[in-house]
Amino acid sequence: MDFLNHTRYVPMNRRRRIYEGKAKILYEGPEPGTLIQHFKDDATAFNAKKHEIVDGKGVLNNRISEYIFGNLNDMGIPTHFIRRLNMREQLIREVEIIPLEVVVRNVAAGSLAKRLGLEEGTQLPRSIIEFYYKNDELNDPMVTEEHITAFGWATPQEIDDMMALAVRVNDFLSGLFLGVGIRLVDFKMECGRLWEGDMMRMVVADEISPDSCRLWDIQTEEKLDKDRFRRDMGGLLEAYQEVARRLGILNEVERPQGSGPVLVK
Ligand code: TMP
Repeated sequence: MDFLNHTRYVPMNRRRRIYEGKAKILYEGPEPGTLIQHFKDDATAFNAKKHEIVDGKGVLNNRISEYIFGNLNDMGIPTHFIRRLNMREQLIREVEIIPLEVVVRNVAAGSLAKRLGLEEGTQLPRSIIEFYYKNDELNDPMVTEEHITAFGWATPQEIDDMMALAVRVNDFLSGLFLGVGIRLVDFKMECGRLWEGDMMRMVVADEISPDSCRLWDIQTEEKLDKDRFRRDMGGLLEAYQEVARRLGILNEVERPQGSGPVLVK
């Protein structure tokens, strides 16, 4: 197993848990500066007022997020992702998470449609970037650059860096999904400060999966994302499987990750 070849094996129950969120757990990593990101099967909405276990969701999100972050890394868009370790876990770089959700919208939906009275599905005049302050007690309120800089959550330069990353991720994801017949309506990403000695780089962190995107089939407008859960439509797992299948990653789920024997010349 890839996991055994490349990392010091630490039994699951003895690993130090650093943080537990609604859908993921972070454990101490095998080397300093690394963490293990574990994907749970929990589906939550409306700040966890609605909560269910969806068997297999974590496995799918681990694979889909691995695929997206791996591609972002390959394109030179920096992320925290190092590699997938097993069905539910990936090795990531430890970063200082900026306490903001960066939402990019291409099409009116969800809270934007509600707030501005737009019909869901209306193409926006251009992509819109919004920031939300990550705070469960406050229900993640939307904030402006004024709040972000005044309260010191990020500097003006860091806001520019996050927006530049968001635009690049949006361009990449829009094209990726368009190629498999899916419209990227909107998505949420998170950013972190990656320290390398005295140097700091802003990188994409957390996950990008159908939990954090709105994905509509181009032909039928069928929802292939967490709105199926939020709106009690059913078929959440099937929708995530369909996204994975279209991206060409579903049938590899059981395939061992090891690179196999290498010919030494
Ligand atoms: P919204 O329309 O509800 O503001 O959501 C915008 C996008 O952000 C949508 O793709 C879903 C995603 N999102 C999250 O990933 N986490 C959240 O807590 C919320 C509210 C939205």
